[in-house]
Amino acid sequence: MNTLVIGSQWGDEGKGKVIDFLTETADVVARGQGGNNAGHTVIANGKKYILHLVPSGILWPGKLCIIGNGVVLDPTGLVEEIEGLRAQGVSITPENLMISDRAHVVLPVHRDIDGAQEDALGDQAIGTTRRGIGPTYADKARRIGLRMADLRDPERLLTVLKRRMKTANEELERLGGKPADPEVTISAVTKAADILRPHIANTIPVINKAIKEGKTVLFEGAQGAMLDIDFGTYPFVTSSNTSSAGCCTGTGVAPNKIDRIIGVCKAYTTRVGAGPFVTEDAEIADYLHGLGREFGATTGRARRCGWADAVLLGYSAMFNGFSEMAMTNLDGLDECDSIKICTGYELDGEILEYPPALIEEWEACKPVYVELPGWNQDISSCRTWDELPANCKAYVKRFGELIGCPVTTVGVGPDREQTIFVGA
Ligand code: IMP
Repeated sequence: MNTLVIGSQWGDEGKGKVIDFLTETADVVARGQGGNNAGHTVIANGKKYILHLVPSGILWPGKLCIIGNGVVLDPTGLVEEIEGLRAQGVSITPENLMISDRAHVVLPVHRDIDGAQEDALGDQAIGTTRRGIGPTYADKARRIGLRMADLRDPERLLTVLKRRMKTANEELERLGGKPADPEVTISAVTKAADILRPHIANTIPVINKAIKEGKTVLFEGAQGAMLDIDFGTYPFVTSSNTSSAGCCTGTGVAPNKIDRIIGVCKAYTTRVGAGPFVTEDAEIADYLHGLGREFGATTGRARRCGWADAVLLGYSAMFNGFSEMAMTNLDGLDECDSIKICTGYELDGEILEYPPALIEEWEACKPVYVELPGWNQDISSCRTWDELPANCKAYVKRFGELIGCPVTTVGVGPDREQTIFVGA
């Protein structure tokens, strides 16, 4: 059984916990897109781990983790992450962590270009993570990027790095940025390359052979489907396909090898960065922030918050092909007297079933809500469907009906045990 786990909203849905839960039965855990713009928080064996590039299967012995060809990889960032995990007692070897030789390399100058582009946009800025993700994918599309295969031979690496640094610095200067020192980059990338070299492989046959042998593969999506460059709130999106199809192109596994696609969603909605957010609501934002919830794991930044959006999730379920939804953070709504779900977007007197393409139109949409009674009860200690209050169960069922995809699990807290299978 090969399973894809995809964030169905704008990221930070709690995929890490769902992935960790499924890792137990997986032989291989693979990532196919994004870079260290992602951050998965996993609580395992009572310890907290934050993973950016390394698949969370690394926390389990005997699992092969693959960073696929569709990922963009900051070599120094990855080395830091590996060293941090090792310091926490995690074993990382070329046998349990493989990096695709086709994955593109994020250089410090890409981060500088990302920052300079954002600064130049002023109040139109996308709110990127400034980790160089967009500029690296741009290099890939322009066919001038460096790939992990280029890190194999130190001499070749020097040549391609020098060449790329020259043109990248010219670009940076045009954007008003300060050129990056090629020597500093060369020294940092060369050092990281020495550490990463044994992990670089052609991962495409590796993962396909595992599937042929009947092994179980778990694909970790990064970010969220509404940040997808094709389906999201363009231009307020990331630069990769964060939807289910991206996992296939990003790992070299054909769509007919995927058996199950799980969408992860919060019981409400959050977003970081700029862009349309139809159900954004100051009241629920104050309420969630007041509970100490919805602050970014790495930056501490308060996330934008709003009600659940069935228009967005129905759309997301459609283009991702979700077979089921894993809902997280249901306990976040414990103290709400009533809870809203958006069922339509009103634009110029018309009700839209799907989000519009133009960003101004998306921004102008007003939510049409149904309102359900809250449960006013702490559900974090519930462990079975039957223990949940009736209004809570009714919310979960209605949520699934409105988006056209059943919710099969709900999360009532950050721990592994706080996951409940949805009953009849
Ligand atoms: P980029 O991926 O750094 O280019 O940022 C583009 C948009 O995606 C911005 O709105 C970011 O806040 C958002 N983004 C990128 N990675 C994540 C993530 O892991 N979680 C949530 N939002 C993200």
